[in-house]
This record gives sequence, structure tokens and C-alpha cells, in this order.
Amino acid sequence: MRHNLSDITALMRDRRSIQPEQFSSRQVHREQIELMLTNATWAPTHGMTQPWRFTVYVGEGMKKIGPKLPEWYQTFAGDKFSQKKYDTLKRRGETVTALIAIGMVPDPNGRIKELEEIEAVACAVQNLHLTATAYGIGGFWSSPGFIYRPEVREFVGLPENGQLLGLFYLGYPAGEWPISHRKPLEYMTTWHED
Ligand SMILES: Cc1cc2nc3c(=O)[nH]c(=O)nc-3n(C[C@H](O)[C@H](O)[C@H](O)COP(=O)(O)O)c2cc1C
Repeated sequence: MRHNLSDITALMRDRRSIQPEQFSSRQVHREQIELMLTNATWAPTHGMTQPWRFTVYVGEGMKKIGPKLPEWYQTFAGDKFSQKKYDTLKRRGETVTALIAIGMVPDPNGRIKELEEIEAVACAVQNLHLTATAYGIGGFWSSPGFIYRPEVREFVGLPENGQLLGLFYLGYPAGEWPISHRKPLEYMTTWHED
């Protein structure tokens, strides 16, 4: 055995999506985010293209993106606009202390399918989220419709061939660490043993 399986199993099962509305005002620090992102880059990547890109807004930096969240929602929601969602995004933008825009830039030589580049970024986000969990920091991958707009992709500094895949909020939960559940293995597994 090379690692402690009960520790790693506990960590993976403890990883939770914690909504920004559940965060306390306790700051997440740059050094913590650096370890989260460095661990993220150890995810598998077909052809070693390392397609993940991170734009980090932390502390005062949140003032750059915070007010844009409700603004983008309002601009792009069309007739699906909900005042409640607008208010939620406004509050998130004002209160959250750290947010990472999760981006993907595909292999410049086109050797690797874009789907596989996106898969690699998703693996990276899992590493990021597990590292946050180890710190007792909650993470939340949010994918509102506006993240797929070119204006928003440009705002976070991604090139035209890149894609913004999510906004990852970070914060310490104000209350209890939430618990979750999963379906038993037999629902999603087919075995062939003989
Ligand atoms: C690609 C991706 C996008 C997601 N986008 C959203 C989202 O927009 N809104 C949301 O409430 N949760 C979003 N989630 C989080 C899921 O709701 C969450 O993972 C799920 O409820 C399981 O909870 P857990 O992460 O605590 O195990 C997203 C998760 C992934 C992987």
C-alpha cells in the first residue's frame, strides 16, 4: 500500500459542494489557493497538453468580478430572468472572498479532442476541490448560462479558442459541514468476471 486508503476515501467522500450562501466571512488565502491549483495541475492530461487555465479573484480582487455576476445574468437571462437569481448573484458578488474562473484552452496543434481537454480540466477541478476539503474550505462549481458568452470568456482572459467551464467559489462554511449520499454501485456498474 502506498497511501492511507481510509484517509483518502474519507477525503473523497467528505468533498462537498457548499453554496456561497453558506459561507462565513472568514478569508481564504492566496497560499491555500496556490496549493489547490498546483494540485489541480497534477490531474491527468492526454498528450500532456495541460489545458486548464485559472483566473483567480481573491480579497480586493473580488471587486473586479463581483459586480459583473448580476450584471451578466441580467444581460443574458432574456425572458428567463428571475429577480431571485439576480439578487443571489448580487449577494455572492458582494460577500464571497475567493472565486476561480475555470478555463480550458485546447491543444494548439489540435491533436487532442476538445472533449478530452474538458475532461482533463474536470479532473483538475476535482483535485482542487479535494485540496479545499482538506483545508476545511467549501467549494462550489457554478455554471450559470452566461459563462458560455464570449464577453464573459474574454473578461476572464481566455482566448477565442478557449472555453470558460465554470466559476468555482471558495469559502469556509458558517455552519456544519454538509453530508451527502450516493447510489450503491450496482446501479451504475456492469461486471464481467467469467
Ligand atoms: C460541471 C459541473 C457544473 C456544476 N454546476 C452547478 C450549478 O450551476 N449549480 C449548482 O447548484 N451546482 C452545480 N454543480 C454542483 C453539483 O450540484 C454538485 O456536485 C452535486 O449536487 C453533488 O453534490 P456534492 O458535490 O456535494 O457531492 C456543478 C457540478 C459540476 C461537476
